[in-house]
Amino acid sequence: MPAQARTFSQSNATMDSRDIVYVNGSFLPRADARVSVEDRGFVFGDGVYEVVRAINGRLFAARFHNTRLERSLKGIRIDLVGDDSPERFVEIGKQLLRENKLLEGEATLYIQITRGATTRAHYFPPPEITPTVYISVARFTPYAALAEGGAAAISHPDLRWGRCDLKTLNLLPNVLASQTAKERGAFEAMLIRDGVVTEGAKTNFFGVVNGILRTHPRDNHILPGITRSVLEDLARSLSIELDETPISINEIPKVTELFLTGTTTDVMPIVKLDDKPVGSGRPGEITRRLQRVLAENLASAGD
Ligand SMILES: Cc1ncc(COP(=O)(O)O)c(C=O)c1O
Repeated sequence: MPAQARTFSQSNATMDSRDIVYVNGSFLPRADARVSVEDRGFVFGDGVYEVVRAINGRLFAARFHNTRLERSLKGIRIDLVGDDSPERFVEIGKQLLRENKLLEGEATLYIQITRGATTRAHYFPPPEITPTVYISVARFTPYAALAEGGAAAISHPDLRWGRCDLKTLNLLPNVLASQTAKERGAFEAMLIRDGVVTEGAKTNFFGVVNGILRTHPRDNHILPGITRSVLEDLARSLSIELDETPISINEIPKVTELFLTGTTTDVMPIVKLDDKPVGSGRPGEITRRLQRVLAENLASAGD
C-alpha cells in the first residue's frame, strides 16, 4: 500500500487534497490507486455502481441511491463485509468532497463495488475473497445550454439483458448505443425493445401523447432512475396526469414533447428525434414546468 494511504477515520490536513479517491479502506491520490488485473470488475464486469449528485456539498436523494445500491448488490449476490454498507459509502463520499474541495458548486459521487479479485473462473470466488470498493468524486458541469434549447436523440435497438433494473457495470450495449448517438450528433440513444421505447442509454425517457405524460413502467427492462422517481412525484404534485404505459414506436409521430431524466441530465428536452422535429421543435410546456420544479427541488433538498 502506498505511503500516503490511510484509513477512513484518519484525517491529514497536510496531504495534497486534490484528486483523492477511496479504494478498499484507503484514501489516496488517484494516481496511486490500484486494483488487481484479476479483479472481477475488470475481467467480467462483475459489479454494481451508483452515481450521486452533490450540490454545494449536499448529496441529492442519497437515501434512494442507497436503497438502489442495496438492491443491485442483492440482485447480483454480492455481500458486503465488515462495516461496509451503502450508508458508509455515502459518508466516505462526503469525506471525499471535503478532501477534494468540492463543497461548493456541482460534483458527482461515484461508488463501485465488484466481486473482488481472484483467479479467473465464471462461478463465484470463495468467501475469503472480499468485494473491491472504489469511491471517487468529480467536478460536474450541468448541461445548461442544451437543457435550455433542447437536444437531439436517435432511436436504437435495446440489446441489453433481462435485468436492466440492476445498476451493473455491464454497460456494453449502453456504450455502443451512446457512441452511435454521438457519431450521429445526438445527445442520447432512445432504446427500442419489442416495439416500445424502454429508456435512454444513460437516462429514463418521458413523452407527452394526447396531453398525457407517459413513461415505461418500472420493470426489469429499465433502470429505476432516482430522477425518474423524484420527477414522477413532482408531476403528481403539479396534477400532471402520468401514465406508465410505454410509448410505442407507432405513437412517435403523435408525441408532442419528449424529455430524458438522469442524475447528471436533470430534465433534458428532446426536440429532434432521428433528425425529425418533436412537436413544435422546441421544449414543450410540461417539460418546462418539470424542469423548473426539479431545479427548485435540487436547490433545496439534500443530505
Ligand atoms: C440506463 C439508465 N437509465 C436511467 C438512468 C437514470 O437514473 P438516475 O436518475 O438514477 O441517474 C441511468 C443513469 O445512469 C441509466 O444508466
